[in-house]
Amino acid sequence: MIILGINAYHANASAAIVVDGQLIAAAEEERFNRVKYAAGLPVQAIRYCLAEAGVSLAHVDHFAIPRNPWARLGTKLRFAIRMPRFALERARVMAKFSGIKGELAAAFEVDPESIRAPFHRIEHHVAHLASAYFVSPFDRAAVLSVDGLGDFASAMWATGEGSALRPHGATTFPHSLGMYYTALTQYLGFWKFGDEYKVMGLAAYGSPRHLDEFRKIVSANGNMTFRLNLEYFTHQTQGPEMTWRDAGTTPVLGKLFSDYLEKRLGPARSADQPVEQRHYDLAASMQAALEEVLVAHVSELAKRTGEKSLCLAGGVAFNCVANGKMLERTPFQQIYVQPAAGDAGLSVGAAFAIEHGVLGRPRGFVMEHAGWGPGYSEREIARAVEQRVADRDAVQVEELAEDSLVQAAAREIAAGHVLGWYQGRAEWGPRALGNRSIVADPRRAEMKDVLNERIKHREMFRPFAPSILEEATGEYFECTHPSPFMTFAYNVRPEQRSAIPAPTHVDGTARLQTVSRRTNPLYWKLIRAFGDLTGVPVVVNTSFNDNEPIVCRPEEALDCFLRTRMDALVMGNLMLRRKAASWPGDGSAQAPAHRVS
Ligand SMILES: [Fe+2]
Repeated sequence: MIILGINAYHANASAAIVVDGQLIAAAEEERFNRVKYAAGLPVQAIRYCLAEAGVSLAHVDHFAIPRNPWARLGTKLRFAIRMPRFALERARVMAKFSGIKGELAAAFEVDPESIRAPFHRIEHHVAHLASAYFVSPFDRAAVLSVDGLGDFASAMWATGEGSALRPHGATTFPHSLGMYYTALTQYLGFWKFGDEYKVMGLAAYGSPRHLDEFRKIVSANGNMTFRLNLEYFTHQTQGPEMTWRDAGTTPVLGKLFSDYLEKRLGPARSADQPVEQRHYDLAASMQAALEEVLVAHVSELAKRTGEKSLCLAGGVAFNCVANGKMLERTPFQQIYVQPAAGDAGLSVGAAFAIEHGVLGRPRGFVMEHAGWGPGYSEREIARAVEQRVADRDAVQVEELAEDSLVQAAAREIAAGHVLGWYQGRAEWGPRALGNRSIVADPRRAEMKDVLNERIKHREMFRPFAPSILEEATGEYFECTHPSPFMTFAYNVRPEQRSAIPAPTHVDGTARLQTVSRRTNPLYWKLIRAFGDLTGVPVVVNTSFNDNEPIVCRPEEALDCFLRTRMDALVMGNLMLRRKAASWPGDGSAQAPAHRVS
C-alpha cells in the first residue's frame, strides 16, 4: 500500500511517502529549489520521495491532499460575500487543486491516464492532527492543532485512540491564535513570512508590562475556542491578503493589524527602525498573553479528555517557550510535537490520515528521528569534494575511521572552532538536528557573536540552541522531558548557566535538543566525545546554512563552508580543515583573532 502525501500551492510545500504503514521519506520543496518556504507543486520533493521508495507515480495507490474545499462551506460562502477579493484568491487556489493530476503528469512527463490512484482531500486541521498523533508514541492522547488559518479554521482539538482520531471542535475564521501572533510580529516590524520565531526570541529581553492590554486582544473561551478582539485586526474585513514573489514561490502576507491597535499600543515599528526596550516589552507581553491563553486552553483540553498525553501540531506548536510552559503548568505529563509541526507536516498528516482514517489500517510507526530527507553515499560526498574543493592548498582533506573522526571533530569544537557537521539523511522540518548542523563550544560566551559574525549574520536577539546527551538533561535543565526535535524551551539550572553561556538565552532558558544514543547514534557519540574532553556533554547546534534553506546536497554544504568562515567540516568520513591563508571575505591572510588555536 503506497500513499503519497502532497502539500501544494501553499507555503512550505512538501511531499511524504508512506509504504505499508511506514514513513519512507518526507521533505520540503525548499531544500531542493533553494527558495525558503517555497510554495507551488513540490515536484522535486515528490520525485525524491518516489525514488527513495523505489516506485513511480503509477505505483501510488492513494494521493493525499491536505486541503478540502467542502470543509466549512457555509462559513466560506458567508465571508465570500463580504470579501470578494479574498474569495477570488481562494477560488483560484482551489482551482489549482482540481488540476493537480494534470500538473503532476506534465511535470513527470507521463500520460495522465497512467496515474490511476484516487486523490483524497483531507481537511487542513485534520491533516495537522494526524501529522502529530499517528506518528506519536502514544496509544491514546489528546490532540491539538493551532495555526493561522487553513480551510477556514485556525485550531482543532481531538482525541486519538489506537488508529482512530476523532475531532471534537474547532476555532473558525476570523478568530486565530496564529493570526494574532503574525499580526503583532508585523506590528513589531518583522514582515517576512515565517518571522514569528524572531519575536519569540525578542520577547525574552522584555518585561510583560502591557499584559493587561494584550488580555483584551486575545482570550481562550471555556468552550475550547480562541477569541480575538477584532477591533485590533483587519483580516476579518479584508481577508488575510497573500501575494507572491520570486515567480510565485514565496508568500507575502498583507497587513493584519488595525489602526486601532496602533492607537492602543503606539506606532508600529518600521522594519528599518532600531529595536528598542518598548518593542522588547511589547513582544514579552504578546508572548505572555499567548502562553496564558494556550495554558488555559490546554488545561481545559486535559479536563475534558482526561488524557495524560498531548500531541501538538500547527505553526503555533513551534512556540517552544509556550510548549515548555504547557509541560510545567497543565496536567499533561507528556507532549509530542513532530519536527515539521507547521504546514510542511501536512503531507505526512494527510498520508497517515488515509492509512488509518480512510483505510482503517492499524498503526505501526513512530517518528523517533527527523532523518527523512535525502542522504548521500561516501562516494557521492567524495566526488563533490573533488569537484568543489579545487584548491588543496587552502583546504586539507583527511579520511578517517568513525572513532578517529568523532574524536577529531570533538577536539575542533573544544578548541573553539566552528565545525560543519554533515551526516546521513537531511532533517525533516525547520531545525537542524545533527545531520545538517553547525556545531560549536557552548562554554564560550562569545560563541554567539562568533557564529553571527562568521556564518549566520542573524539579529543579536535570536538565541542559539544546545544539543545535549539525553541522559544529561537533568544536570543542566530543570525539566527532563525529551525534546528530540528542539520544540521545547526549558530553564537552564541557575548553577549551570555559566557552564553553557553560549546557548543560554537572556531569560535563562534554552531551546534544547535532547540527543538519544538509540535514534541519533553518531551525533550522540560526537557530543559524548566533546563531554569526555571538556566535562560538558553539550554543544551549540545551529542549522547548516547562511540565509538560505538548510543545505541538502554535499555541494551546498561545501559551498557554504567555502563561502563563510567555518573552520572545519565533517562530511561522512571526511574531515576538511581550512588552512589559515584561505579565509574568504576580507582578503586577510590571518584567521580571526578569536580563533583559539
Ligand atoms: Fe496550518
